[in-house]
Amino acid sequence: MTGAIFFASKYGSTKQYANWIGGATGLPVFDINITKFNPSKYDFLVLGSPIIYYKLLNRKWLKANLSIIKKKPTILFTVSGAPAGTKLDGWILNSGLPSELISKMRHIALRGRQKPEELTWFDRIMLKIGGLKNPDPVARKEELYGFDYMDKSSIEPILKLVQQYKSSELGS
Ligand SMILES: Cc1cc2nc3c(=O)[nH]c(=O)nc-3n(C[C@H](O)[C@H](O)[C@H](O)COP(=O)(O)O)c2cc1C
Repeated sequence: MTGAIFFASKYGSTKQYANWIGGATGLPVFDINITKFNPSKYDFLVLGSPIIYYKLLNRKWLKANLSIIKKKPTILFTVSGAPAGTKLDGWILNSGLPSELISKMRHIALRGRQKPEELTWFDRIMLKIGGLKNPDPVARKEELYGFDYMDKSSIEPILKLVQQYKSSELGS
């Protein structure tokens, strides 16, 4: 089976993960905001998106390609400040996507990077306000001062799934 990686990224960390996965698996890597490649020609999909303001950044693309994605084995990797857990699951559920789509995708949570000096003026202000209001001391510090949790080894579970899909007839 042949697959491809389609990612969205605002500040580059999801792009970095997509390129690491592409490099390790040989799958082609497409930025959904630059290329208009059709995912229908692939047997399985690896979709990457950061969480920005409590939602998946690629939610419009997911909706637009819903009928294609529904038919294919799909891995969704998210990149966020928050670790895997109920908070992150809630944001994915709140991204306005059909629940049957969310439940069919194999979700892998990766943690990203946020450098205050790289942010747009608007994002910097919004994160400062969010940080000052956040009762969680760890999340508060991350929102105010940034963080770097980029970890190449965290893509291992994705590489294993891709290997399974590549060598499987049905892919699930
Ligand atoms: C404007 C903005 C909003 C964010 N909102 C969230 C959020 O709601 N939850 C979270 O866990 N991380 C949040 N983050 C952290 C990002 O998910 C993290 O920085 C990620 O690595 C960004 O991916 P990218 O570099 O591919 O754009 C936010 C970051 C920015 C810049």
